[in-house]
Amino acid sequence: EEMSKRQVVNHLYDTVKPEEGVIPAYLLGDPKVYEIEHEKVFLKTWVFVGHESEVPNKGDFMTRELAGYSLIITRDGEGEIRAFYNMCTHRGMKLCRADKGNKSMFTCPYHGFNFKNTGELVGVPLQKDIYGGTLDRTTMGLHKVKLESYKGLLFGTWNEDAEPLEDFLGDIRWYLDILVGRAEMEVIGVPQRFVVSSNWKVGSDNFVGDSYHTMVTHGSIAKLGMVPSATYSKRGFQIHTENGHGLNLGTPNPDFAFPEELKAEFKSNLSVEQYGVLSNLKNMIGNVFPNLSFLISHTKIKDQFISNTSVRMWRPIGHNKMEVIAWMLVEKNASQDWKDRSRDSFILTFSPSGIFEQDDTEVFTDITEAAQGPMPFLKNLTYNYTMGLHREPVEFVGPGVAYDDKFTEASQRNFYKYWLELMTK
Ligand code: FES
Ligand code: FE
Repeated sequence: EEMSKRQVVNHLYDTVKPEEGVIPAYLLGDPKVYEIEHEKVFLKTWVFVGHESEVPNKGDFMTRELAGYSLIITRDGEGEIRAFYNMCTHRGMKLCRADKGNKSMFTCPYHGFNFKNTGELVGVPLQKDIYGGTLDRTTMGLHKVKLESYKGLLFGTWNEDAEPLEDFLGDIRWYLDILVGRAEMEVIGVPQRFVVSSNWKVGSDNFVGDSYHTMVTHGSIAKLGMVPSATYSKRGFQIHTENGHGLNLGTPNPDFAFPEELKAEFKSNLSVEQYGVLSNLKNMIGNVFPNLSFLISHTKIKDQFISNTSVRMWRPIGHNKMEVIAWMLVEKNASQDWKDRSRDSFILTFSPSGIFEQDDTEVFTDITEAAQGPMPFLKNLTYNYTMGLHREPVEFVGPGVAYDDKFTEASQRNFYKYWLELMTK
């Protein structure tokens, strides 16, 4: 028999036990769970929409999606970045159908209303003739959407009462500083986009805490000699913070995998402790709740270890499908040669053609497929997230709850704990 939404929420209460390491399979396969997620997670929290460097010039714009609704993100004549619902206020036509471009004015394809990139309605065809003095343009500006930036990362939310972005991010900011605040960063090219038949949570879960899979899932890469097998060591730290965020730091690294010539810039942007983590970093893999994952990894390109930095969104488009959108970032002041090699290092590893990405998406799709099915059957199947339940956290130079190696599932338990909190609110 079909469960109502209320019954599903009650069922979540009874069956999802992150703190005991028990996560039922139906969370990845039930369309009702997905419906509730849309309402209680994606319409409530801050969700990543892009990077400031994607609209570098006055008049630049891009269209993005926020919880299933289209946004226009513009940089106006004063340099301010804003977000609007991509819907004409006359009769609801999608105002802008391009991915990106540069214009100060948007003309609606239906009746030709003209909106400035600040949202104001400034022109209506034949206005005096047909409306006389009766149309008040000042009340018909585009619907503004809440948008905030952290170190260039742009987040939007539909929730008018959402806490400030900085509060929502909390302690994970310390690590995001290392990721995107260490230097002036810019997105290279346009984001890569590809669709995977996977529930979005499998991606977030994998990045927030699953360092354990690398030895096996990506084992063939080491066998081929493309990365040293030591890449898959558990050495490092796993850390989680409030609101479901978390990450894994692979350390130590004898090779400095960042542009040498930017050391002064890094030091001026980071605290001594943050710089200490950066200079010793092999990789950094994490997730900002709900679905913004981030990554610093490195590979040998022309005999030198070259890092690559990226953020990626597991954009849900159904309970068993997501679009992966990956932005590659690079230090703006690095040499062109370094930028090119960093891009190569990224494309070889994480991208639709990347060796790691292909391994991972095979797993994601099979997990999702196995979780599809009617609730009465699936509600009894659970996953095991008990790794590290017995362990005590350690002191770490950065904030959050830290463990002194990467092979624990504490970050996943923390992710699902916050997820459950929102879902059952
Ligand atoms: Fe846009 Fe009419 S719907 S001008
Ligand atoms: Fe992987």
